[in-house]
Amino acid sequence: MRAPQLTPASRILVAGHRGLAGSALCRRLRAAGHENLVLATSSEVDLRDRAAAGAWLAEHRPDVVVLAAERGGRGGAGGPADVLSDNLRIQTSVLDAARVVAVPRLLFLASACLYPRESRQPIRESSLMSGPLEPATEFYAIAKIAGLAQVRAVREQDGLAWISALPTNLYGPGDDFHAPHGLAGLMRAVHEAAQIGAPSVTVPGSGTPRREFLHVDDLAEACVALLEQYDDPTPVNIGTGRDISTADLAKMLAETIGYTGAIEFDPAAPDGAPRRVLDIRTMTGLGWEPRTRLRAGIAATYEWYLDNTALPRQREAVRGHEMVG
Ligand SMILES: NC(=O)c1ccc[n+]([C@@H]2O[C@H](COP(=O)([O-])OP(=O)(O)OC[C@H]3O[C@@H](n4cnc5c(N)ncnc54)[C@H](OP(=O)(O)O)[C@@H]3O)[C@@H](O)[C@H]2O)c1
Repeated sequence: MRAPQLTPASRILVAGHRGLAGSALCRRLRAAGHENLVLATSSEVDLRDRAAAGAWLAEHRPDVVVLAAERGGRGGAGGPADVLSDNLRIQTSVLDAARVVAVPRLLFLASACLYPRESRQPIRESSLMSGPLEPATEFYAIAKIAGLAQVRAVREQDGLAWISALPTNLYGPGDDFHAPHGLAGLMRAVHEAAQIGAPSVTVPGSGTPRREFLHVDDLAEACVALLEQYDDPTPVNIGTGRDISTADLAKMLAETIGYTGAIEFDPAAPDGAPRRVLDIRTMTGLGWEPRTRLRAGIAATYEWYLDNTALPRQREAVRGHEMVG
């Protein structure tokens, strides 16, 4: 099996192009001269619907598919039954449709949440399926593990150069700042505390869990590197290889935002796995490495948040504060 080359003429279908990962990938592809993108919103083509997915792929016959459509991985939409069912349906619809038209190259984006809760750190790709999952993300992970299996099975049966990747926590422009947790949710909470001059802001959990955060532009770069160079059944980790405690992350956010109140913790909220950081040697072996340092990435993301999400009056107040400070 030889992976087909990515060229400016390649017809690249990005499922989930309005999402955090998909939008960054489209920006990256367009910047590199890939204009032949096949895109549809979920209201134009509901990918849970096999017939709709089949018709979409049959009409466009893409050279490359990137599956970055999903439901609820960031904890927002739906309960466990929706998350399990919707993700299974999106995946099987898209992967089956891609198989029918023999799409030669496909990248399936899964997630580092698929690793067992007690994985040895930093987590190597060989840890997949080696122990019980984190209960909070179990149904999501099971659906995505089925997707990894389908990609490998199609490689084996049909000889297509399909691959999968396991990105760590992402952040950047287009993030969901209303999510109850994660970097973006914490950024909004600290921003709002700064706006009203709250004496303290509460961070869910004990502050001790250690997590890794990758800027979406680095993820997009990694996806292109994989499409250009990687052709192996083993799913690949995409991360930074560096972790930070939630407490230190909150401090970094407060420094960026200019919030001087206290940072408190709510130990009653679940912490999840104590540590989660990826071994990224497969990716760095391809010559890729994350370029965005966390502090700089947070500062740029906060600028984006102010420009796109915060109310204009708040924006002026914050920027005024920055000038004075
Ligand atoms: N965000 C993270 O921190 C993170 C971490 C690790 C891995 N990942 C992986 O990255 C991939 C993308 O995640 P994301 O964070 O970018 O997701 P996201 O921002 O929530 O976007 C998901 C996208 O999926 C599309 N979608 C949802 N249901 C659909 C349906 N029924 N039919 C068609 N499209 C549908 C949505 O389309 P519309 O906008 O048109 O509704 C949306 O653009 C996922 O595979 C995820 O596992 C993300």
